[in-house]
Amino acid sequence: MAKVKVAVLASGRGSNFKAIQEHIKAGRCDAEIKVLITNNPDAPAISIAKDNKIPVEIIDKSGFPDREKMDERIKELLDRYGAELVVLAGYMLILKGRKLLESYKNRIINIHPALLPAFPGATAQKDAFEYGVKVSGVTIHFVDESLDAGPIIYQEAVDISDCKSAEETAAKILKTEHKAYAKVVDSFSKGHYAVEGRRARFVPSS
Ligand code: GAR
Repeated sequence: MAKVKVAVLASGRGSNFKAIQEHIKAGRCDAEIKVLITNNPDAPAISIAKDNKIPVEIIDKSGFPDREKMDERIKELLDRYGAELVVLAGYMLILKGRKLLESYKNRIINIHPALLPAFPGATAQKDAFEYGVKVSGVTIHFVDESLDAGPIIYQEAVDISDCKSAEETAAKILKTEHKAYAKVVDSFSKGHYAVEGRRARFVPSS
């Protein structure tokens, strides 16, 4: 099985990035992370990349006249590193570049810490806890021009009925994120997802 060439985009802690890299090292994920791209020069994700000898590209928003141009730069980097799959792992900017989204259509994936379409946005775990839902979870979806609303690849429920705070909720969901994201990245080495309308259906390689 050929390893899928991955570019990771992250803005912060990078625990999903680290989890995927650990699954790769343990032979449980048929992928190779070719580059970490970050918009945050202080992101802890950078040291995870360095520890694993993964090249790091920092793109500073203030260095571009607009987000279209910034995303063009991201596209250039993805092309240069030969990315087959772009994994957003806590990348906290919305991708807006038309060229980038068109060129990498159905090849950019994101993880969201809730069962979409419930609780989109940046505070999903807190929102779910405060709403009082008993079950939340993880959604992995393709990225398009919408916010947290591209075709869904994978979902897994997490029982949060015993969580006593938003932080505890986030920590419990994160454990599921780490396993689910590596599993989904691995699936791209074994086939592709046919997207019809809102539906993404896994098609194994023959
Ligand atoms: C994760 O919980 C991820 O699901 C969330 O940010 C966190 C990043 O953590 N993403 C979103 O909320 C996207 N809307 P990490 O940097 O440790 O992987």
